[in-house]
Amino acid sequence: MSKTILITGGAGFVGSNLAVLLKARHPDFSVIALDNMKRQGSELNLERLRKHEIIFMHGDIRNKEDLSFDDKGISLIIESSAEPSVLAGYNSSTEYVINTNLMGTVNCLELARKKKADIIYLSTSRIYPIKQLSEININEEETRFTIADDQDISGVTSKGISETFPLDGARSLYGTTKLASELIIQEYIEMFGLRATINRCGVIAGPWQMGKIDQGVFTYWMFGHYFNKSLDYIGFCGMGKQVRDLIHIEDLFELIDLQLCRMSDFNGNIYNVGGGNKCSLSLLETTQLCREITGNKIEMGKIEENREMDVRIYISDNSKVQKDTGWLIKKAPRDILCDIYTWIRDNDRILEKVLL
Ligand SMILES: NC(=O)c1ccc[n+]([C@@H]2O[C@H](COP(=O)([O-])OP(=O)(O)OC[C@H]3O[C@@H](n4cnc5c(N)ncnc54)[C@H](O)[C@@H]3O)[C@@H](O)[C@H]2O)c1
Repeated sequence: MSKTILITGGAGFVGSNLAVLLKARHPDFSVIALDNMKRQGSELNLERLRKHEIIFMHGDIRNKEDLSFDDKGISLIIESSAEPSVLAGYNSSTEYVINTNLMGTVNCLELARKKKADIIYLSTSRIYPIKQLSEININEEETRFTIADDQDISGVTSKGISETFPLDGARSLYGTTKLASELIIQEYIEMFGLRATINRCGVIAGPWQMGKIDQGVFTYWMFGHYFNKSLDYIGFCGMGKQVRDLIHIEDLFELIDLQLCRMSDFNGNIYNVGGGNKCSLSLLETTQLCREITGNKIEMGKIEENREMDVRIYISDNSKVQKDTGWLIKKAPRDILCDIYTWIRDNDRILEKVLL
């Protein structure tokens, strides 16, 4: 069935890739990408959007008027706009992160209500509190931390963090605004019969991510190696053993495509979604892979003190989403880093100008 899909943050990493992949899979869908172009580098995605016949709208989800769509039907909103930095608001005003990540989501929900549109919400593993995550039992191995088999906290096993992990405690303004949005979405489902699915994603990675030090770490690491710039292992004694799971944007697309085609089956569900143990890397391991792929060995520094908001390890336990949908990730860490490398190599001049 033909759909009109609005992707907010549609010129960003996740939004632009989802737009391009959706249009390729469903040429009869009309895909609108709305973005306020706040993220440096998002402008590089506009040509791709145009080439793939995606309608671009310059707009800001903080402004209700930008979301009026009086003359257009919308059947689905994929909410993927955000101020996505976990450090947002700490050394700057808190207004932007709160107004975009929370109030902006409310504006999107109102639009969904008006248009009777479904919602797929891109949430984050950062909704889990930092103190609780720092208290899980871990093992220290040669190149990484791992999650121990024995745990005292519910919702964590050696498979990772599940949706039942405790939610009490601070988690950054980024994580809090995303969790608050999740709660409001659940109220809209209950009160207004809206249909929505929430995906709490671990690190998403792949081409066209404008990686920077506080968001998009795997691209940032590959940039450093490709352009021969030094990098630092920050925190946890500067050993580089901290671990994240990573999911290729194409694997995430497969899940979202499945969800949007069977919305009634997944309505109201919250899923942890990520690479899981199999697709996870420590910084040390990332350095090794980046060296192998680029052939460059760069200078690696150490900053022993932790930054605010750092966590030693995050692995998504995908059990629930796998059980409900049958979806599995296909891409391994090396595939993801190779795809990032190829994209940087093919666009190095412009990326160097815009991002370094
Ligand atoms: N990339 C990840 O690792 C990751 C992990 C978990 C969750 N997420 C979530 O996925 C979504 C997309 O993240 P991303 O990695 O693509 O980030 P991104 O910064 O690449 O893209 C976000 C886009 O939103 C736009 N934007 C910001 N404020 C806006 C506003 N007020 N109105 C309209 N557009 C606005 C930016 O210009 C940018 O193009 C976010 O909701 C984020 O919380 C991302």
